[in-house]
Amino acid sequence: MSDEKKNIKPGHDYETTGHSWDGIEEYNKPLPKWWLYTFYACIIWGVGYTIAYPAWPGITGSTAGLLGFTTRGQVAEEIARVEEMNGPINDKLASVDLASISTDPELQTYARNAGAAVFRSWCSQCHGSGADGGSEPNGYPSLIDDDWLWGGSIEDIHTTIATGIRQPTDEDWLRQSQMPAFGRDELLENDSIDAVVNYVMSLSGDPRDPSLVTEGETVFMDNCSSCHGEDATGDRTQGAPNLSDAIWLYGGDYDSLHETVTNARYGQMPAWGPRLSEAEIRAVATYVHGLGGGEASE
Ligand code: HEC
Ligand code: HEC
Repeated sequence: MSDEKKNIKPGHDYETTGHSWDGIEEYNKPLPKWWLYTFYACIIWGVGYTIAYPAWPGITGSTAGLLGFTTRGQVAEEIARVEEMNGPINDKLASVDLASISTDPELQTYARNAGAAVFRSWCSQCHGSGADGGSEPNGYPSLIDDDWLWGGSIEDIHTTIATGIRQPTDEDWLRQSQMPAFGRDELLENDSIDAVVNYVMSLSGDPRDPSLVTEGETVFMDNCSSCHGEDATGDRTQGAPNLSDAIWLYGGDYDSLHETVTNARYGQMPAWGPRLSEAEIRAVATYVHGLGGGEASE
């Protein structure tokens, strides 16, 4: 371009493009050179980038890029790095005597923190993020109280988590049991169910019909005490809940109790042994044990 300015209107200082639309003209102001070259450089860089990195979407995936980079690979690398860093302490956690985790402050702190993360990923959807089982009885027990179905020592909790509850894989029968469906299977007449429900209600509050409590007690001793105990405080070897503490897995009102006795419930928890590492199971067991209800080892 020459320095000489073209198409300058008389009385004006600006060059125009020379085009005129209905008398409207356009100033000739080209982009600054620095801007233009930066723009070209960006285009070249952009082309290079799409060759080097995954970029163009296809039907089943995208172009891989010459550098072989993936964000998934980057995450995997980071996980591998953290795992390598935690390797020694995880090995220790997986091998020490369960009861001694609580006597090693460093190990215990690590286990609780790692266990809280495991809990958030794998347990909170059923037991609630606060591990309290939710506000309504729903079959998922609170893990923060000292009311245990299967036992509250670190060993009991570890077994429950690893084995799951009422799982076909539990061939050693560690966490198996089944309450009979007294109504559905015609083991008890409805009158007897009515009576025993009133008896159970009387143990932790008010029965719906006090005149049935004595009859209900007889039904209970004959049909229920073998699992729930004569004093109805439960039996941990069978996961039979305490029925006298007003803590309910499935509800303590007449209708819920009637349903439980008529059809039984059969609550199940997945086995975590096959899904999580031993260190993860021990970490989450330590976490649960530390939530408030943990009991001493025997
Ligand atoms: C699919 C739902 C579900 C998930 C996920 C789940 N649980 Fe459970 N869990 C249950 C149910 C249901 C029970 C009660 C079973 C019964 O009636 O005995 C239970 C019981 C337990 C108990 C026994 C409580 C007691 O009173 O003895 C512990 C401990 C426990 N879960 C820990 C965990 C941990 C830790 C995880 C995560 C690794 C987990 N659960 C994940 C459903 C689940
Ligand atoms: C073979 C053992 C067994 C017998 C017999 C038995 N139960 Fe149960 N019961 C259990 C188990 C195990 C559970 C845990 C719930 C589950 O199966 O998910 C349970 C749960 C219950 C619950 C629910 C408690 C809650 O917290 O919601 C009630 C109520 C109950 N039983 C009442 C009875 C009554 C009443 C009888 C007698 C008519 C009876 N049971 C007989 C084993 C038994």
